[in-house]
Amino acid sequence: MPRVFVSKHAPEKAVQLLQSAGFEVEVGDMKKARNADALFSLVIDRIDAKLMEASPQLKVVSNMAVGLDNIDQETAKQRGIVVKNTPDVLTESVAEHAVLLILGITRKVGEAHEFMKRGKFKGWDPALFLGTELKGKTLGLVGHGRIGCRTAEIMQKGFEMRVIYYDALRDQAREEQCGITYVSLEQLLQEADVVSLHVPLLPTTKHLIGEKELRLMKPTSYIVNTARGAVIDERALAKALKERVIQGAALDVFEEEPRITKDLLKLENVLLTPHIASATNEAR
Ligand code: GLV
Repeated sequence: MPRVFVSKHAPEKAVQLLQSAGFEVEVGDMKKARNADALFSLVIDRIDAKLMEASPQLKVVSNMAVGLDNIDQETAKQRGIVVKNTPDVLTESVAEHAVLLILGITRKVGEAHEFMKRGKFKGWDPALFLGTELKGKTLGLVGHGRIGCRTAEIMQKGFEMRVIYYDALRDQAREEQCGITYVSLEQLLQEADVVSLHVPLLPTTKHLIGEKELRLMKPTSYIVNTARGAVIDERALAKALKERVIQGAALDVFEEEPRITKDLLKLENVLLTPHIASATNEAR
């Protein structure tokens, strides 16, 4: 029977499914996987060369995530190991979370919630937590994959936003399917009222948004990240938010999870969630 090593953080249901399919299943700390034919990993499991070498007969790594940045894919390729992910199942959940973050940061929901919990509400005030309307504004998507496309659809249909996108690979079929317009990254940053990130973390997308890029954005604009933390230079972002180079940021992912750049935690113009964009019963 093929041996499947399953990350200790995996849902019980996954273990049951593998067992009922007749596999020999071992559940544990992924770092301790040895002599497995297959690995069932999560985003928090680092699958590096050393781990692959500990299972010389390893044939497949199945990652319960869309992003594969936790896996050394180059080594996997060299060793003939197939790497699989979970596209489609979480498109809706992540897109809906991106929408939630867009609404949340533009309407200061995090700040307002905190204000209520601290008992600071003393009555209606016309100047209290003034936000920004989205109708007719421009959403700039960095990445035109499934999640970016679905986010575009919701924001166009629901909020009448105009949607532009940048991606290293321009895709005209996608443009027609999603009603999005291709622009350079520079133009996107200059024009967008809200920038939303939907690219995988690759050597070419690491710190794609740094100090220089943040300075291209409008002082009234917002940035939202449901992709991977390291797509933004987190320290540069904290500095830009502090200096009001941009208006605000809503983040579900961080460069070195679970660690978060301290300065970010001190700022008011951020909305933070703990990597839960795909956390719905439907997706799981
Ligand atoms: C979650 O972050 C995923 O990539 O699925």
